[in-house]
Amino acid sequence: MRACRWTGEDARPSTIPSPHRRFSCQMFLGCPNGKGIRQLVSSLLVTATKKIAVLPGDGIGREVIPQAMKVMMASGAPIETTEFDWGAARYLADGVTVPPDGFPLLEREFDAILVGAFGDPRVPTNIHAKEILLGMRFKMDLYANVRPVRLLDATLCPLKGIEPSGMDFVVVRENTEGVYGDVGGVFKQGTEDEVAIQEDINTRKGVERVIRYAFDYCEKHKKLDGSARSGVLMCDKSNAMTHAGGLWQRVFKEVSREYPQIKATHMYVDALCMQMVRDPRQFDVIVTNNMFGDIITDLAAGLQGGLGMAASGNIHPGKTSMFEPVHGSAPPIAGKNIANPLGAILTSAMMLAHLGLTGEAAKIEAAVLEAIRQKKTTPDVGGSLGTKEVGEWVAQRVRTS
Ligand code: NAD
Ligand code: IPM
Ligand code: MN
Repeated sequence: MRACRWTGEDARPSTIPSPHRRFSCQMFLGCPNGKGIRQLVSSLLVTATKKIAVLPGDGIGREVIPQAMKVMMASGAPIETTEFDWGAARYLADGVTVPPDGFPLLEREFDAILVGAFGDPRVPTNIHAKEILLGMRFKMDLYANVRPVRLLDATLCPLKGIEPSGMDFVVVRENTEGVYGDVGGVFKQGTEDEVAIQEDINTRKGVERVIRYAFDYCEKHKKLDGSARSGVLMCDKSNAMTHAGGLWQRVFKEVSREYPQIKATHMYVDALCMQMVRDPRQFDVIVTNNMFGDIITDLAAGLQGGLGMAASGNIHPGKTSMFEPVHGSAPPIAGKNIANPLGAILTSAMMLAHLGLTGEAAKIEAAVLEAIRQKKTTPDVGGSLGTKEVGEWVAQRVRTS
């Protein structure tokens, strides 16, 4: 693995220590000073090398992402990484959230993006998180937020009698529309007649492509135990939100007819929450809108052992996609070396698999499973190690596997 820092004038280098940073950025394709003959030579030399943009972000993002990088490095994956300092500190220093050309640059120069988390109490408006994180999802059109829900060990699940083989489902969350579209407004603010409107945007194109993605996913992705997936469940609130729900219902029925071998079912989101806690073994692929997807994946993270265990990908097939753990920046535990890095490490495996590096991804997943079995974990999942020590243990296991 090669690593470098971005030295463009708008994106200042990150301060994350990386023992793996061995080459200067100028050597690599895509760096402002590295054009011409060096670019040609380096691209010929590293044709199979995948270029990863790394945005650790804020809080525990800055602690868990270096561990994920360490583990990827140990796997021998042919990747080179470039760190970006987008986040609260940068915003507070110079007011920049996303530098000009930021998203086109990510799309142009990188095969994938690895993100930590955004959110810092010093930026109470959360404007930087909105512009960076939601900006990537919306402006890069990463329409399918894929959040696998896997139980790695029975001891991690707060429910009685759930075995790992029984709980292996995935939530496909619509990622570019819904109430996240920021359409609406506030009128008569500060008066007792104040009105706040937050519109829920659902386009036929947007709904259809994410539902089709869920059916395709069901068709192509097996469960961890090698068995085939067989059902897609659409979750909405069409009994109350009739306009948007009606569209989701119609499109789901239409698309499901193209996949007669896949069982298509439906649940209202409130009933789904109850069922997820009552018996999560009944789920396979769940597709839903942006906000319901956000909420049910925190619930689902709880079933996996907590937010520290949950991985996700923000995907547009064929385009540069972005991978991030489900958790946030967790300010109260930031800087204490107690954040669980396994969600970020599993996220890096998901990214490598997406890039076709399935052998390296499998090695990482196996090492995480072993860390859980041997309790080489942080306290949130029953161990007594620190963030760095867990990362080191998993990296060592990957190295020797
Ligand atoms: P959070 O996910 O940061 O934390 C929720 C709870 O889970 C806390 O108790 C925290 O200590 C715990 N937790 C989270 N990750 C953990 C880990 N890796 N190891 C151990 N414990 C972990 O959510 P929050 O508290 O609602 O939000 C904090 C900030 O993060 C906010 O600014 C929020 O907007 C932001 N956020 C960002 C993202 C993202 O960037 N993808 C996601 C969610 C929240
Ligand atoms: C997530 C987060 C984000 C979301 C926030 C930080 C805007 O909760 O990735 O799950 O709601 O999508
Ligand atoms: Mn969330």
